[in-house]
Amino acid sequence: MAKILFKNAKLRGQAESKDILVVDGIISKIENELKCIDENNNDIKVIDLNKNLTIPPYVEPHIHLDYVYTAHTPGATNSSGTLFEGIQRWSESKNNLNKDEVKERAKIALKKQITTGIQHIRTHVDVTDKKLTALKSMLELKEELKEIVDMQIIAFPQEGMYAYKGGDELVEEALKMGADVVGAIPHFEYTREFGEKSVKKAIELALKYDKLIDIHCDETDDEQSRFLEVLAAHSYIEGIGEKVTASHTCAMHSYNNAYTYKLFKLLKESKLNFIACPTENIHLQGRFDTYPKRRGITRVKEMVEAGLNVCFAQDSISDPWYPLGTGNLMNILDSGIHICQMMSFEEINNSLDLITINGAKTLNIEKNYGIKVGNKANFIVLNAKNEFEAIRERVGVLYSIRNGKVLFEKIPEVIKSNCDFIR
Ligand code: FE2
Repeated sequence: MAKILFKNAKLRGQAESKDILVVDGIISKIENELKCIDENNNDIKVIDLNKNLTIPPYVEPHIHLDYVYTAHTPGATNSSGTLFEGIQRWSESKNNLNKDEVKERAKIALKKQITTGIQHIRTHVDVTDKKLTALKSMLELKEELKEIVDMQIIAFPQEGMYAYKGGDELVEEALKMGADVVGAIPHFEYTREFGEKSVKKAIELALKYDKLIDIHCDETDDEQSRFLEVLAAHSYIEGIGEKVTASHTCAMHSYNNAYTYKLFKLLKESKLNFIACPTENIHLQGRFDTYPKRRGITRVKEMVEAGLNVCFAQDSISDPWYPLGTGNLMNILDSGIHICQMMSFEEINNSLDLITINGAKTLNIEKNYGIKVGNKANFIVLNAKNEFEAIRERVGVLYSIRNGKVLFEKIPEVIKSNCDFIR
């Protein structure tokens, strides 16, 4: 049996540090002062975590890995900064994709994500492509990298299920090929009727193939965009809300409060999950406003206070929708709590939930997620002693532990200087 003992792990919500004993990749004990020798008096390998904050791995619930690093490819530059120009530019420039090229770009992004502490990723993949090139790339990557990262793949019709002829059939084909989640983009369909039809089709396909659902829902400042109520109501009627995610829901930022009050009752009853993309949507939304300009981020603070499950995501890394992005969720969290005004002491202390457990619930992996006896020994160690310090300093990761093994260790930066004050 392979044993390893992690000493002095500072777990969230606990005053004292604990020791974590891992046997064959599974957490066996979490106790005070565990011994470094086993029952046969053999030494157990020890890693001292020095009372640093030890948490479950980050969860990236919404990224477009097939688009990464395409912001500057010929024809892909988005000069208006709007969602709709992003879709147009992608449509015009995506014909030259090949499987290896998509994989190589995605691997660069994945390496960045993994080395900032992410171990669980849900990626959208554009299936409005009759060759399904990107999907084939991502299915291969998921298999090749399964020992170091868990990936869910969304069959996402970027150009619509109906605005793109045969889009609904391509989504179904992608599910048959192995995609885990059904996607849709109702606010991009040509009419309200087609948008509703796409939401209902997504639910029909999810039920038929026993898949999860994640809809790009109301990613617009148009206060008349109300596909969220359609998604929530039908999910509620089918009793599948916990398997369903509404991404973006930016229009909720612009809904009137009377309507939102009524909507929240349905959202609570439906048990839907929500993903907000703070940097992406502060960039894309408000583009048709003069001043004041709307932030365009959904009502994260109010949703959290209402007990709804909300998590944060990067969404894009240097693509036609968003030119920057590093994949580091600590940056996204920092932006998100500022933009959403979630800056009380308690909110800051709790905010790691937005990139850990809340994301795990959204991905429907929460049963086996977390630092608990019996779970796989998957966790990360931050360069901070508590949550507040971690957020204030936007700290990096010292260790990422996967199945009880050190996936990587990072040495904190060293400053060399002749100046006494700096040294
Ligand atoms: Fe997206």
